[in-house]
Amino acid sequence: MPKVSKLLLFGATGDLAQRMLLPSLYGLHADKLLPEGLEIVGTARSAYDDAGYRAFAQKALDEFLPKDRADCEACNAFLDRLCYQPLDASKTKDFTALKDKLGDLSGGLAIFLSTAPSLFAATIKGIEAAGLSGGRARIGLEKPLGVDLKSSREINDIVARVFPEGCTFRIDHYLGKETVQNILALRFGNSLFEPVWNAQGIDNIQITISETVGLEGRAGFYDDTGALRDMVQNHMLQLLALIAMEPPARFDATAIRDEKVKVLRSLRPIAPDETQQLTVTGQYGHGAVKGAIVRGYGEELDKPSNTETFVAIKAHVDNWRWRGVPFYLRTGKRLAERRSEIVIQFKPVPHSIFAERGGQLHPNTLVIRLQPEEYVRLLVMAKQPGLDRDGIRLREVPLNLSLETEFAATRRRIAYERLLLDLIEGDPTLFVRRDEVEAQWEWIDGIRAGWKANDTKPKPYSSGSWGPSSAVALTERDGVTWHE
Ligand code: BG6
Repeated sequence: MPKVSKLLLFGATGDLAQRMLLPSLYGLHADKLLPEGLEIVGTARSAYDDAGYRAFAQKALDEFLPKDRADCEACNAFLDRLCYQPLDASKTKDFTALKDKLGDLSGGLAIFLSTAPSLFAATIKGIEAAGLSGGRARIGLEKPLGVDLKSSREINDIVARVFPEGCTFRIDHYLGKETVQNILALRFGNSLFEPVWNAQGIDNIQITISETVGLEGRAGFYDDTGALRDMVQNHMLQLLALIAMEPPARFDATAIRDEKVKVLRSLRPIAPDETQQLTVTGQYGHGAVKGAIVRGYGEELDKPSNTETFVAIKAHVDNWRWRGVPFYLRTGKRLAERRSEIVIQFKPVPHSIFAERGGQLHPNTLVIRLQPEEYVRLLVMAKQPGLDRDGIRLREVPLNLSLETEFAATRRRIAYERLLLDLIEGDPTLFVRRDEVEAQWEWIDGIRAGWKANDTKPKPYSSGSWGPSSAVALTERDGVTWHE
């Protein structure tokens, strides 16, 4: 797909634009990665003119760009690329004005849509009516894109009437993270892991995304959403798919997404009478996170709520490779620390020759830490130095690959830098295809139906802990301990 010469940002004054999109576009601009002459047109309700929006963008960069990245000359040249057109999505004439502002579209248009769900349909309709969807236009869609399979299908249908699937780029910002892409390099760039990457070699897999933040001013959205739909439906299932998929034949959008969707469709549905046993929900109460006293969810929200801010799930992928291997997933807000990681627990050796000599073995563990640190750590057994008169002492030691150290000279980019550049250049590999999203929702809807049928209420947990104690029981029942 060819590059485009214009980028149109819907939601250009929103939180995402300030924190992520503008700093990311600046980062690409400063490194001369944006196509020369690419114009960026922002649109939202606020009544800015071009100068006003540039001042707004400057403020966002001052606040959210790491200080060592801000370069006055590059900033000014970047701001010159920006212009702005106010828009009320319910007014057709506003879309006509937007089209006039965009001018010549023969060089191709990429649209980035991050807008309130209530404005979604009207915006797509306006885009079509103004003729912005024709020719070489493509669209990037930010979540939330529906709240369940049915609404997600409706949204996908609305988009599909205007943009073919090949021009629809659904964003899951976890796929833009360098360490997430590294899962592919680790699995398919090394011959070491593949022979044991299956039910014969692996005992269980844990995926944790723990956060220390609470509601962060998103009370309305979050309370209607909850941890299952906010984090598991998208980011965690994408991580699971990358870990569990078969080797794709090529590094391209079709081959990779074909393999991911097979995994997502193989997720064993969790029936209503199993949700009590296979899932745990929690809601944070007050407590201390990293030494600071914080309020509970209900206090932050200022009303009682049954929304889960924590979820843990025991999942299974029903195919040959993963038969009988549990995937334990957990995510939550206001937990003990910020950490995203995947832990692969290998099986023990079939027979220990050290047992009679007092040596104890631990099965190997592979830890893929995605953030805040970036490393791959393989825990292996080693003999402690000594003459072994009292028996052989063995200890678990890490083989450590710190990506930060190994690639110290390379700047870590914001996930959106990668995704925006791929959108502009037309590479859909790191975007989520419709069939993937729908398989994700189908599995999630099954869990939510079970919670509803059982009238499941989240269990309280203290802020700063690792969630409700039943999350510990979820794995301990299988003799497995969460990696902490
Ligand atoms: C978003 C969720 O998709 O991901 C947020 O809506 C969450 O609730 C965020 O905080 C986490 O992203 P990251 O990149 O900080 O791990």
